[in-house]
Amino acid sequence: MAEEQLFKVTIDNITIEVPAGTSILEAARKIGGDVTPPAMCYYSKLKGTGGKCRTCLVEVSKGSEKDPRPMPKLVASCRTTVMDGMEVKNITSSKVVDARAGVVEFLLINHPLDCPICDQAGECHLQDLSYEHGDAGTRFEFEKRTFKKVDLGDKIQLHMTRCILCYRCVYLADQLTNKRVHGVLDRGDHAQIATYIKESLDNEFIGNVIDVCPVGALTDRTFRFKNRVWFLKPQNAHRDCPTCSGKATVWLRGDEVFRVTARKDEWGEVEDWICNECRFDKKLTSDWVIEGPREINRHSVISQNHYTKETKDPQEFLPEILGRKPRILLDIHDVSDVDKPGIDLSLIEGPAHSTDFDTNTNENYESK
Ligand code: SF4
Ligand code: FES
Repeated sequence: MAEEQLFKVTIDNITIEVPAGTSILEAARKIGGDVTPPAMCYYSKLKGTGGKCRTCLVEVSKGSEKDPRPMPKLVASCRTTVMDGMEVKNITSSKVVDARAGVVEFLLINHPLDCPICDQAGECHLQDLSYEHGDAGTRFEFEKRTFKKVDLGDKIQLHMTRCILCYRCVYLADQLTNKRVHGVLDRGDHAQIATYIKESLDNEFIGNVIDVCPVGALTDRTFRFKNRVWFLKPQNAHRDCPTCSGKATVWLRGDEVFRVTARKDEWGEVEDWICNECRFDKKLTSDWVIEGPREINRHSVISQNHYTKETKDPQEFLPEILGRKPRILLDIHDVSDVDKPGIDLSLIEGPAHSTDFDTNTNENYESK
């Protein structure tokens, strides 16, 4: 078998080797962290995606070892393959930082700033993007383009006003379902995601459009407005499903299942597509075998309060303060007369008195 050809590429001064044909974005994902450009339309699990949103622009400061000339314009890293000896600048390029702020501004021209009431808040890629790369103010003074909300069947709602026309849901329906019934209609300012004849999206894998939508344009009608995602505890769970792998993330509050989504990787992309039955109809903890907490790899508020890592005992600070190990540690209950765990303060009438703590006379005292 012929050996795989490897190309050396340097991104933000970090050099790695990747197989020929790898895109700059995928090469940057191998390095990870801030070196990786954001992506709003590219989706590695869906063929043909990318090239629509321009958020992944990078500067190629050296084309290749053979032809070291820089590329004249910023390029979309999701659609440009690496060359041997290529040098790329992402966050180390002021041109890129500036252009990305411009892209965010364009994406927000028609996108409503309704994060406080949007179900996607906390897990919206556009929210993160504008926080990390956008400007605080807006220069847009005109009326935004708006659409009425449409129910696409009884499980999915389309709020076209929030759509950034990334085409991910269209590619998904093309590649994952037997018959695509929605797409982008019209062009330019009139372009919109629609089913045209109000056909509902009812294929058994169509629920995955909710997971690939980077914004709150396609939402789960069984979950809308039920809870904020950061109040829920995501858990890896599985079930014996005849249609899909049955591996999902269930989002719990207490022992109530508020929603079910596919499991997503560190780039926010679905690991395993799940069927509509798992997503919309299995809302009892007894439907699932809970495996344990799911780590959500996003820096937004959604990953707060989730105890996914091993817990650590607090550091012992007493020896450090004393300069030596304590000779003896006493249990406060053994040495104090006023801190008896057997004395229930709620049973004491009026303010507590020293006699209340006399265990010989207090008739409510229970030795613990
Ligand atoms: S509805 Fe969502 S996934 Fe579909 S094109 Fe719009 S933003 Fe992209
Ligand atoms: S992610 Fe590359 S153009 Fe959208």
